[in-house]
Amino acid sequence: MSRWSIFVAAKMPDYVERDIAAAFDATFNTTGEKLTTDQVLKGLEGKDALFGNVGIKMDADFFARLPSSVKAVGTYSVGYDHVDLAAAKAKGMPVFNTPDVLTDTVAECAMLLTLSVARRITESVALMQNWKGWTPLQLNGMELVGKTMGIFGFGRVGRAIAERGRGFRMQIAYSDLNKLPPDLEQGAAYYPKPEDLMANCDVFILACNSTPETRGFLNRERLAKMKPTAIVVNIARGDIVNDDALIEALAQNRIMGAGLDVFNNEPNYDPRYRSLPNAFILPHIGSSTVEARRGMGRILIEGLLAAKDGKPARNRLA
Ligand code: DGY
Repeated sequence: MSRWSIFVAAKMPDYVERDIAAAFDATFNTTGEKLTTDQVLKGLEGKDALFGNVGIKMDADFFARLPSSVKAVGTYSVGYDHVDLAAAKAKGMPVFNTPDVLTDTVAECAMLLTLSVARRITESVALMQNWKGWTPLQLNGMELVGKTMGIFGFGRVGRAIAERGRGFRMQIAYSDLNKLPPDLEQGAAYYPKPEDLMANCDVFILACNSTPETRGFLNRERLAKMKPTAIVVNIARGDIVNDDALIEALAQNRIMGAGLDVFNNEPNYDPRYRSLPNAFILPHIGSSTVEARRGMGRILIEGLLAAKDGKPARNRLA
């Protein structure tokens, strides 16, 4: 069967573009500009497939307006909260994402966020501008050994974070819709109610999907259940957090701090986070390593090639 022509909506690393070009006749976004929905739809005219990303809202309207040439859609992300899978299914449009290949990279980022808050890195970096020298009082943080890491969402990423937490000699606890089998739990304590997990952990990590059930989950009421020494980490999606509630808790030191890689309304995140010394914030770099980016490209190519050949694929969502 002849090669598919695909539209690549975002500027990709060179090594990913080379892999794409080896597999497809690709039209690349060479500008580095974020494209509007209209621009993406225009770029797709006459193309077989989209190599999309989290920045493109693929809602029912998007699927309705897809040019008739399009036979498959990919998102260069493991998260798919920006994709209306029901609309894709109704249209019979295959959708692919990038599971597994970024799990370790994201788990490493969760540890980076955890350590950065525990060791007060925002304040440490600021202090280096005008450091007066070592004192025993200076920026005493929290040691992780023996503390409880509570993970909300014990899927691939959540379990990979747990593995790292064990390496730091932390106790692992989790909450998810269901208790997992022992081989996946690896001794982690299960809390059916996330509120109970929050009350009993020292580091609370959001590693769940963004769904109608989890949106706005981290609210005032739930934050109030946490220990005053506890840390919140979010490597999942910004909309799981109620910003007003979290910022209030941080400003009033009702928890120790928060490490955040994702935000509501990216890139226009709430600017109040910037002035909180107990917030350590990153620009959604959770999956941003060369290894993960390369793997994400390859698994998405694999899915789109499977769609072309009418074969099953491990990363097919719809
Ligand atoms: C994902 O994969 O969902 C990340 O958030 C974007 O790379």
